[in-house]
Order: sequence, then C-alpha cells, then structure tokens
Amino acid sequence: MPGAVPNPLRNALDRRLPRIAGPSVLVLFGVTGDLARKKLLPAVYDLANRGMLPPGFGLVGFARREWEDQDFAEQAYQAVREHARTPFREDVWRQLSEGIRFVQGDLDDDDAFDRLAHCVHEMDSARGTGGNYAFYLSLPPKLFPTVVRQLDRCGLAEASEEEATNGVRPWRRVVIEKPFGHDLESAQELNSVVDHVFPPTSVFRIDHYLGKETVQNILALRFANTLFEPLWNRSYVDHVQITMAEDIGVGGRAGYYDGIGAARDVIQNHLLQLLALVAMEEPISYNADAIRAEKEKVLASVSLPEDLETGTARGQYAAGWQGGASVRGYLEEEGIPSDSVTETYAALKLAVDTRRWSGVPFYLRTGKRLGRRVTEVALVFQAAPQQLFPRSDVSELGQNALVLRIQPDEGVTLRFGSKVPGASMEVREVSMDFAYGQSFTEASPEAYERLILDVLIGDPPLFPRQEEVELSWQILDPVEEYWAKAGRPEQYGAGTWGPESAHRLLSRDGRQWRRP
Ligand code: BG6
Repeated sequence: MPGAVPNPLRNALDRRLPRIAGPSVLVLFGVTGDLARKKLLPAVYDLANRGMLPPGFGLVGFARREWEDQDFAEQAYQAVREHARTPFREDVWRQLSEGIRFVQGDLDDDDAFDRLAHCVHEMDSARGTGGNYAFYLSLPPKLFPTVVRQLDRCGLAEASEEEATNGVRPWRRVVIEKPFGHDLESAQELNSVVDHVFPPTSVFRIDHYLGKETVQNILALRFANTLFEPLWNRSYVDHVQITMAEDIGVGGRAGYYDGIGAARDVIQNHLLQLLALVAMEEPISYNADAIRAEKEKVLASVSLPEDLETGTARGQYAAGWQGGASVRGYLEEEGIPSDSVTETYAALKLAVDTRRWSGVPFYLRTGKRLGRRVTEVALVFQAAPQQLFPRSDVSELGQNALVLRIQPDEGVTLRFGSKVPGASMEVREVSMDFAYGQSFTEASPEAYERLILDVLIGDPPLFPRQEEVELSWQILDPVEEYWAKAGRPEQYGAGTWGPESAHRLLSRDGRQWRRP
C-alpha cells in the first residue's frame, strides 16, 4: 500500500490492550497532605470506578495521626466526594474501602514500619494482593532517605525468594514526587539513597505533566501524522514559546515554595519536559528507554544564553487585582518572610544545539498570579519569504503559529492568514481549532490517575529517569547561581503578564510573547 510506512509508535498507540492493574497494595506516605487529599485519593477511586483496579487491591495510609482504619477511610471518602472526577458509586466505594488500612507512626519508628510490614502481608492473605507493593512518598524530599531505609530495614523493599510464586518474585516499587533535589548535587545525593535500596527499574519519579493527555498527545501529533514533522525544524520555525501561567498565588504552600521559586518548582521539571518532547527526534519505538534516550539527547544539547542578565527574567508578584478581587503581594502572603527574594515568575531563553533546532530560540516562562491559568506550547513560524500582497493589506497578519493547548482549553490551534471576503486582497489571521471536548466523547483522566495506574502496571515511559533529572538541573543551576547574586526580583502586578524584564527578553530579539 503506498505510504504505509511502518511506524512503531503508531503501532504502539494502536494497541488497545485493556490496561488493568494486577493484585497490589498502594502504600501512601503523607496521607494528610494536600496532594493526597486533592489528587491521589480521588485518583485511586476514579481508577476503581473505571474498573482499572483489581478486586485484590489494598490502600494503606501511613501517618503520625492517631487514626484507626475507619478514620483514614473517612478522610479518603471526603477527598473522593470533593475531588473525584467520576460520579460517586456506593458499590465501588464499598469495595475499595474494604481494602483500606491505616498504620500510625513516625517515619523513624522501627516499630511502626514493622507494623506496616505486618499489615501489607496480612492483606496478601486477606485480599489476595499478591505481595506486590508500591510505596508512594508524597513527602518532602528530606524525608525520603528515612523512609527508604526503613523499607529496606523491615524487608519491604525487596520480595524474598520465599515470596515467589512459580519462580516469579512479587514486585516492589517506589514512587517519588518532585522536587528531586534543589540542584544537581542534592539530586545526586537523593538518588544515591534511593538507588542504594531500589533498582532503577523500580523507581518511578512523578512529573505529573507527563500524565496529562495533552502532553502525551505531543508525541502522537508529531509522530503518528505526516503533516507536521516536515515543518518541525529550523527551516520553518522561527521560535518556540512554552508558557505555564497560573492565576493563583502561593496560597497555603508558603513553606514549600519560599526558597524554591518558580524556576525550580516548574521549569526544572514540567517545562523542560515539554521542551524535550517538542524538540526530540522520533524514538525508535514507543518504549520507555527509547523515549527517554531521545529526551536526554535534547536536554544534553540545551544551552543557556551567554548573558544571563538579558537572557533570563524573574519577578515577584505585588499586590493587585485578580478576577475583580484585590489580592496580596507575595511578600505579604502568610508564612513568607517580608524580605524574601524567591521568584514567583521566571523566564528563560534557551537554545537547543542540534541540527534540527540550531538558531531557533526556545522561550520558557512561568509565573503565579498572572493574567489567567493557561499552559501552552506555541511553535511560531517564520514569516513568508516575500509578500505578494500590499503591506497595508496584510497588516493584521501575525506569524503563522501552531499552538498546543495543554490546559485548560485542551486542544490544538493553527493560526494562519486568510483572505477577508470582499473586493480587495486583504489578508487577516484566522484559526483552525481542534478541541478535545468537541472531537472526543471520552473524558480525559486526571494526570495522577494515569500515573498511578502506570506504576501499578509497571509501565515506565511517562516517568523521567535520573539522567533527565540531572540534565535538567545542569541547565538550571547556572541560572539559579546567577540570580542568587543578582539581588531582588522585579515586582509585577498581580493579574498582569509578568515583569518588564520578561517583555524585554523577547523585544530585544524583535519578538513578543503571545497573549494566550
Ligand atoms: C506543581 C507545582 O508541580 O504544579 C505547583 O509545584 C503548580 O506550584 C502545579 O501550581 C500546577 O499544576 P497544574 O496541573 O494545575 O498545571
């Protein structure tokens, strides 16, 4: 058949295998935290509701609170009722809650971990969970070493030979949440602790952006089609803009955020992952190692501008108005020291030094308390080499752009010029839109749902390897070091699109940020 080029990625995407987790226990550390309440517990319920968890499934919470099993179940119930995506079904909840257990204790309490071991083993016989355990560390990274050592000490990190059935040992996996360190050195230290106890294939690093449908769609859009790839390079693309804007402030997360800042919080992980997916070459297969290898090549070829003063920008939100309400500035937020120099906005100009991207700048920006919540990747194309039509008639024509709308209005937009109906040859910019809501009846699962399922199945493509984490820190470390010596970040008004220096970053290159 003409044009039927074998495409391993397409074959993999076409495989419609039922994806259902096998018997297993998910042990959650940090059950009283925000992430567990808003995302993790609802995601577990949604998976159960979609029929993706087996009857032999157990959920074990571990925390300091003086709770019994039913207190944790009640906490999970509230979280599910408030935040689950799928409708509440009594029978699903009953089935799930029968497998909910709670272990009370401190992380450095050997006794508590022995009780945890006893609890999960007991589940194996009571619920048939098969000795397969995933340990989800929804905890600050400084606590990882303690937990990992405890799991090792009480024999939970690796299944023993006696636990094997037909020569197959049950699996043990550990899930760690970002931030993976605060610079290259600390990321390496953290890794050495985890690596000491768990083999690399058992470590799942969560970057929840990779669990988003629209982020996974970057690979489908590029490699399951022929339309885009011929244009996806320096011959056609003028520059790339990656934006992750939030309208919320730091909220109740002052303790985590201050001292971390926008670049470490999201550029080091979410935005560099987006960059890698946009800039990478086609992997030889849709297999975790092949994909990660291509992403790593991109990250290794990223370079910073020589002058970090003009090639980066950072800011801190000042008081202002948002959604008709007056809001506090960062320095007035609860828990933030009044002399904090933490940035809540960061923008970088990066180069990807490959044959495909040489000379094409990638501009990354993120910030809190910006104009609105939006994440998008825009490939802005070069202007037509010559203009056939009179200048005055094409004045409303911007550069062609392909915009991958990651959230909240998920889809893809193509911007191009079109003749305005009428007697003259006037050209104006128009859009062609693909919207998930209109094209699909299937609802997008929440990112954590997909990621938790992948952990339980043992499917690693959506989880960055340590190499990716380290390469990302290598990119960011010099910027952080430069900023640390460069005084206070510039203030920007809440509800605006960031500090002046960020606008200058592009205008110096004769470009401007897209207004999303
Ligand atoms: C997290 C950051 O990783 O992503 C938060 O730590 C940020 O600061 C959040 O608010 C945004 O996630 P999402 O999915 O709402 O874009």
